[in-house]
Amino acid sequence: MHYVSNVPMVKEAMKQGIAGTFPSLNYRKEGELEAVLDELNGFLQSNQVTGTYGINLIVGKSNPLYEKHLKICVEKKVPFYITSLGNPQQVVEAAHSYGAKVLSDVTNLKHAHKAKQTGTDGFIAVGQGAGGHAGPYPLHLLIPALRREFPQMPIIAAGGISTGEGILAMITLGASGVSMGTRFISSSECAVSDEYKNGILNATMEDVILTDRLTGTPSAVIYNDFIKKLGVKQGFFEKTLSTNKFTKKYFKMYIQIRGMKWLEGKVIPGSKDSLWMAGQSVELIKDIKPISQIVTDLKSELHVSYQKLNANFLAV
Ligand SMILES: Cc1cc2nc3c(=O)[nH]c(=O)nc-3n(C[C@H](O)[C@H](O)[C@H](O)COP(=O)(O)O)c2cc1C
Repeated sequence: MHYVSNVPMVKEAMKQGIAGTFPSLNYRKEGELEAVLDELNGFLQSNQVTGTYGINLIVGKSNPLYEKHLKICVEKKVPFYITSLGNPQQVVEAAHSYGAKVLSDVTNLKHAHKAKQTGTDGFIAVGQGAGGHAGPYPLHLLIPALRREFPQMPIIAAGGISTGEGILAMITLGASGVSMGTRFISSSECAVSDEYKNGILNATMEDVILTDRLTGTPSAVIYNDFIKKLGVKQGFFEKTLSTNKFTKKYFKMYIQIRGMKWLEGKVIPGSKDSLWMAGQSVELIKDIKPISQIVTDLKSELHVSYQKLNANFLAV
């Protein structure tokens, strides 16, 4: 999660036997990404770890550091990649050169077929209600549709999942696992401001809206005074520059950098304005707790909900 995931969160996830991930763009200063990857690789080799970590690369022209970061990740042998926005081909070739895996974000079947042709190893199916760049379709349709088309592919469900019951539902629909973002913003290890964490606890699903003004692609945010000022739709001028064939490459890059700058200054403690990216699962998140507790609770909810399902519907 942009400006939200950090090294302590990723390490704690690895300790808990799950995969912690973060966008490479969280570390943009010279030498910073290399140092973070050295630290995580050292931790991965220690005997405290049963999970792993992965890097999200925003693929393509809107990410000015894409090629540079991919090269660093390959040198450091990152265990797996999540690709978003563009064509994952280059990442797939680079990752497969040393046996790493690639999961590609998809929001519909068309993009999934295109990603499959590049040799990607699996999909992250991003559905309605997700934090970040949410998809247009509900997961109870997207997951079975993907499973029908790609019976053998790993499919990870993302969007609106924050409980063990949610995980069970996704597995029942055919998902191989789940990816959760918003739940982990309200974790003790997350370093965003208390206002942001409390913004999540106090928000309902109706407070989460989509704005294209942040990155040019609809992003889920909690509606607050900053978003009221920012607006939710690109104006005529911005739309023209981001579709014109001569300007779109540079304008998209500019929007991406501007969005990163806005986020950078508005999620940390002491921020003047507040920009809170989050998905609709805010509705069910009512506490701030350590990642170890979040994982323990998810496992126990998953277990209890499976027992209930079994007792109420399956046992005859
Ligand atoms: C604050 C925030 C920032 C995010 N940043 C990124 C990102 O940089 N790249 C990406 O691929 N996904 C990003 N996501 C999406 C997550 O990786 C994940 O797909 C999503 O959070 C799942 O939905 P959920 O928030 O409902 O759990 C972000 C999500 C949030 C909440």
